Amino acid sequence: MMNKKNSISGHDEYAAEYDQQVREYECFAHEALFGLSFEHVNPHDRLLDIGIGTGLGSLLFARAGLEVFGIDGSIEMMKICESKNIAKDLKQFDLQNTPLPYSDGFFEHVISCGVFHFFDDLEPMFKEVSRIIKPRGIFAFTILAQTTEKEERVAGGNREAYSEMSREGITIFMHRDRYIEKLLQGSGFDKLKMLKFLVWSGQEDIDDLYYAYVAQRYGI
Ligand SMILES: C[S@@+](CC[C@H](N)C(=O)[O-])C[C@H]1O[C@@H](n2cnc3c(N)ncnc32)[C@H](O)[C@@H]1O
Repeated sequence: MMNKKNSISGHDEYAAEYDQQVREYECFAHEALFGLSFEHVNPHDRLLDIGIGTGLGSLLFARAGLEVFGIDGSIEMMKICESKNIAKDLKQFDLQNTPLPYSDGFFEHVISCGVFHFFDDLEPMFKEVSRIIKPRGIFAFTILAQTTEKEERVAGGNREAYSEMSREGITIFMHRDRYIEKLLQGSGFDKLKMLKFLVWSGQEDIDDLYYAYVAQRYGI
């Protein structure tokens, strides 16, 4: 049995291999999020990357001229991000805590790629994103989807997230589409787009199903 690690210390340990592993897994979630969001962003817009890690999710936004701010718990992941010169500002912060250390309406846009599956209850995070984003701003993120097959293993079938331990010994959570839709609505977002895609799980012949969402904060 693997030792349970938390999602920050786990990433500190794997930071040096992270970018290489993303390439091996042929995970293009970053490109998908950027492509889905591109029509809504402009050069010089301020973008927060929640769980920025080594910066893969922000790289293309930075190249498109946005001002990238990053927040993450893992110093080792952020050291690599810093060396790439993608972000204007990086903060170390445990995302289990709220409020996030930013003022109301500070960002035009918020992204989070490959992060929300480390959290069971996403409601505090969505409420915070709603607070720090400007009206009409874009919130783009991925989740690990709860499939019917996995749903069957959930006692009663009425929980919002199913959890299991990853190969690396970190607890991960799969969320249902209807849970995400409910959270978006309850935090002031309209869903604009959703894309379903597969990423290799690291185990032979098994792919994980991810959803990418682009939502827009309503209001004027
Ligand atoms: C799979 S990586 C994704 C990194 C980057 N967004 C990307 O797309 O490549 C998940 C990131 O979330 C961060 N993370 C996980 N749990 C966290 C927590 N509780 N607080 C802060 N950061 C956390 C990890 O440190 C890691 O950098």
